[in-house]
Amino acid sequence: MMQKVTINKILKKKNKIPITCLTAYSKTIAKIADKYCDIILVGDSLGMVLYGMKTTREVKIETMILHGKTVKNSTKKSLVVFDMPYKTYTNKFVAYKNARKVIKLTKCDAIKLEGGKKIVKIIRYLTKRGIPVMGHVGLLPQTSTNFKTKGKNFAEKKQIFEDAIDVSNSGAFAIVIECVPENLAKKITKNVSIPTIGIGASMHCDGQILVTDDMIGLSDFLPKFVKQYSNLKKVIEKCIKNYSEDVKLRRFPSSKNVYN
Ligand code: KIV
Repeated sequence: MMQKVTINKILKKKNKIPITCLTAYSKTIAKIADKYCDIILVGDSLGMVLYGMKTTREVKIETMILHGKTVKNSTKKSLVVFDMPYKTYTNKFVAYKNARKVIKLTKCDAIKLEGGKKIVKIIRYLTKRGIPVMGHVGLLPQTSTNFKTKGKNFAEKKQIFEDAIDVSNSGAFAIVIECVPENLAKKITKNVSIPTIGIGASMHCDGQILVTDDMIGLSDFLPKFVKQYSNLKKVIEKCIKNYSEDVKLRRFPSSKNVYN
């Protein structure tokens, strides 16, 4: 029987068993990821990946809720985390109202918030009221002006480290570290009590996450930190090209595809 992944189980994996995480926005990907991943993130990256938006700042909570419901309904085992979109957690009251709505409508197991020191009060307020929170430090796509590695200079490194410590001490159960140098990810992982989940943050994190569309070759995004396991865009193109030729040449539908 499939054992449901709980927050306690995630916490126990720290320093022991690597935590596997991926994003999912749809039923099909969620069902497959559920077999192999501890955590499935309904990431607001869907704005750029699925909807062709320029940044994740354009993503609306209503859109996320639709995808959150689908993913959660298609998942039996993994912990499903809902990425709170930009401006939905501007203060603790707004955050609580929106997070409650999200959990009520999607039944997701936790939410994710981007930020460090600035959102500590919000994380504390939510976790004290029973809403599990995953943090996110380093490169913050909702507020960053560029998509470059963060924490390369001393000041930035210090700030990201302190952000991670603050998030960890405020009640979050895990923390995503995005696009930082290896030594910083290692230092954070050693010094926080909760699991760190890296994306472009080296093998020293307690777990890894990637945007599924990037690693299966469905997006146009291929930075150094992504390992591409397939090029599904090419596979799909071949299928569509073949279909189109079949239709034009009257090879489809054949006798196998018609009702008598
Ligand atoms: O939105 C997202 O997919 C994310 C991951 C990149 C961690 O936040």
